Amino acid sequence: MLDIADLHKNTGVCTLDIGLMNTGICKSSITYVNGDEGILRYRGYSIDELVDNSDYLDVAWLLLNGDLPTPGQKAEFQHNITYHSMVNEQMVFFLRGFRRDAHPMAVMCGMTGALSAFYHDGLDIFNADDRKIVAHRLIAKMPTIAAMAYKYSIGQPMVYPRNDLDYVSNFMQMLFAVPCEPFKLNPAGVRAFNAVLIVQADHEQNASTFTVRSVGSSRANPYACIAAGIASLWGPLHGGANEGVLQTLNEIGSIENIPAVIKRAKDKNDPYRLMGFGHRVYKTYDPRAKVLRRYCYEVLEAYGKKDDPLLKMALELERIALNDDFFIERKLYPNVDFYSGLILKTIGIPLSMFTAQFAVARTAGWIAHWNEMITDPAVKIVRPRQLYVGSDFRPFVPPAERT
Ligand code: ACO
Repeated sequence: MLDIADLHKNTGVCTLDIGLMNTGICKSSITYVNGDEGILRYRGYSIDELVDNSDYLDVAWLLLNGDLPTPGQKAEFQHNITYHSMVNEQMVFFLRGFRRDAHPMAVMCGMTGALSAFYHDGLDIFNADDRKIVAHRLIAKMPTIAAMAYKYSIGQPMVYPRNDLDYVSNFMQMLFAVPCEPFKLNPAGVRAFNAVLIVQADHEQNASTFTVRSVGSSRANPYACIAAGIASLWGPLHGGANEGVLQTLNEIGSIENIPAVIKRAKDKNDPYRLMGFGHRVYKTYDPRAKVLRRYCYEVLEAYGKKDDPLLKMALELERIALNDDFFIERKLYPNVDFYSGLILKTIGIPLSMFTAQFAVARTAGWIAHWNEMITDPAVKIVRPRQLYVGSDFRPFVPPAERT
């Protein structure tokens, strides 16, 4: 058996860092996170100010280009995004190959990866114009793909994008509009959904962004890189947690059952975790949860759901957890998924679409990181080492002698 000394012998100086908890993998100028003070900034701008004063496309432009768009840049960006929002009609046939009850995230992984089969141009990753067109295509098509996956899963006809609507409103109409019925948007719902999409747009080296960088480091095509990011985001310890929060609340059922769930979350012999609590970096209240809490109250008021029993239960769960020694000692606070889940539920986003809408939001961040990585002259293919703990050399055993 080899030990850490052998790892050093084989690789020069090398650290074993499970979960990469103490390893920086790149230099980046996109997003700043301070986990002790609860600070999140995109390109230097605080998340609170961005949420209150901009829309998702402003933020997508900011992440991609490093500064907020001028009115002219915004108009051009909006035009480019709406221009690319349709997906190739042949992709509908591809979609029909999935089982009716396929999870929208499974469909999104497949459909996004398949974009590289439908769009053969713009794949010179070292050409800035090609990278730009890929960025526009992905940001534009992701809501369409997510909405197609949803409509397919419930047996409704797909709703095409509308170019007269802003990005967030268009996404909502593709999810909610039904034939033969007028479609109405609730402005508070649009504002809250915009807030959710903005806070989810980037978060430096999380599992899915690292995945995108890692896959991209082999110079794989960008659609495949983003498909890999979607797969990583799907996990319940990452983007899948927003779905998990609502599932947990539904399972709890009523306020009296909260202590039993807290007890379970604290049990060392039970892998159960309280979804929507804890974060690898934030050791204080997640700034994204803080900003979303405001929008959550606003939207509940606007939708007449202030006295919703689910919200009451969520607030009580938060109160109990924040006062429990186990959570205090481990600095486990509500994270972004806690309040985003409640907002999404209020505005009518179906549970199966919670993580899929997160993937739509995170696409701008993933592309910004992919761009930064691919244009960094210092970039190298990701190729970590391991500490081998298997058998030492042993001679081959013929089949007849195996026991
Ligand atoms: N419920 C109960 N206990 C928890 C939770 C939780 N949600 N989160 C962490 N802990 C406990 C662990 O059991 C561990 O306890 P121990 O020290 O006694 O062994 C301690 O807190 C530290 O946990 P780690 O798993 O080492 O922390 P890590 O930084 O690896 O994990 C993570 C962070 C994955 C987010 C974790 O807090 C978790 O599983 N949370 C629930 C899932 C969730 O909400 N994910 C969304 C994160 S935000 C995002 O991805 C967009």
